[in-house]
Amino acid sequence: MTSTVVTNIRTLVTNDPALGEGGPLGLVHDAAVVLDGDRVAWVGPAAEAPAADSAHDAEGRAAVPGFVDSHSHLLFGGDRTAEFNARMSGRPYTAGGIRTTVAATREASDDELGRNLTRFLDEARRQGTTTMETKSGYGLTPEQESRALRVAAEQTDEVTYMGAHIVAPEYADDPAAYVDLVTGPMLDACAPYARWVDVFCEKGAFDGDQARAVLTAGRAKGLIPRIHANQLSHGPGVQLAVELGAASADHCTHLTDADVDALAHADGTVATLLPGCEFSTRAVYPDARRLLDAGATVALSTDCNPGSSFTSSMPFCVAIAVREMGMTPDEAVWSATAGGARALRRDDIGRLSPGARADLVLMDAPSHVHLAYRPGVPLTSRVWHRGRPAGA
Ligand code: NIG
Ligand code: FE
Repeated sequence: MTSTVVTNIRTLVTNDPALGEGGPLGLVHDAAVVLDGDRVAWVGPAAEAPAADSAHDAEGRAAVPGFVDSHSHLLFGGDRTAEFNARMSGRPYTAGGIRTTVAATREASDDELGRNLTRFLDEARRQGTTTMETKSGYGLTPEQESRALRVAAEQTDEVTYMGAHIVAPEYADDPAAYVDLVTGPMLDACAPYARWVDVFCEKGAFDGDQARAVLTAGRAKGLIPRIHANQLSHGPGVQLAVELGAASADHCTHLTDADVDALAHADGTVATLLPGCEFSTRAVYPDARRLLDAGATVALSTDCNPGSSFTSSMPFCVAIAVREMGMTPDEAVWSATAGGARALRRDDIGRLSPGARADLVLMDAPSHVHLAYRPGVPLTSRVWHRGRPAGA
């Protein structure tokens, strides 16, 4: 194992309040970080940094923990340029567009799916993302869903079974039979490759009872629930998430006061907001301020998928969350790192403190605030992933 001291960091976000100032961000100014193998070994003032096998001069840049993108749909074939184009000419977004991607995904070879996934994981890493969850949900047969998850498990630890994305076209006349498939043979085929189970609880997809059946069946097979909830309309998804102890309720765009209250008092259910989705569907953004003021834990994620949000950029989500959703820059950076880690129930990522995984992003900026202050500017200077410079 070799160690590296990254020194001359102007502003370091540790996400450990005990290590610095600025509340939850635990900011250390003029800092250094020692990476030893794939772990963080030491964090503190640069003047006190211990020696290491090699040194990297950050030249006054800011450092943040690698972004934790806890929600994406990267196992797909084709794209939906025409649909996006039509939407920007006034057509609304509906769950129905998913069918286009299902048809293209079924046509794609395992190799194509794998290469597509590699491409997006690399693209995200170049923008500072060092952990990315991804889901099935564009195959909708036991064979298609399980092969997508097998491909995913080769490239990421955070794999989600989402056979309940929409009712498969073959079952359009018998949704109950599709739910039986998703909670039966399809789940059996998929569970070995997945850590999580997810369902799209929405008009045009699955109602509250169906969503409950999917999540409880997954849980019985050892998968942990997460849910697409309250994206396009009010619905039972958020309450179900809290009731079942899901790790995360994702989207949370249309919330009643009771939903906000449930999330604020939830035991371990994070509200994951996906602003790329409202951006790309010209919809009203979720109100992060309302959730934060109530006391909910908020994560930010890209929802990268070919339909509703074709961005892999966490910095972009941070910038929108600050400009449009009432978050402070500090809150948005926390939500894109530590918040994502909470949504994935991980304590080894989303922070830069001793023992954490050595996932560190150096930015071409003196402060993490520039992620919101300089929207659209590629600020990622260098990324260490598991202690290795990305690309090395
Ligand atoms: O999170 N809401 C459901 N699924 C995706 C969209 C998928 C698609 O349009 O292909 C989402 O927005
Ligand atoms: Fe999604």
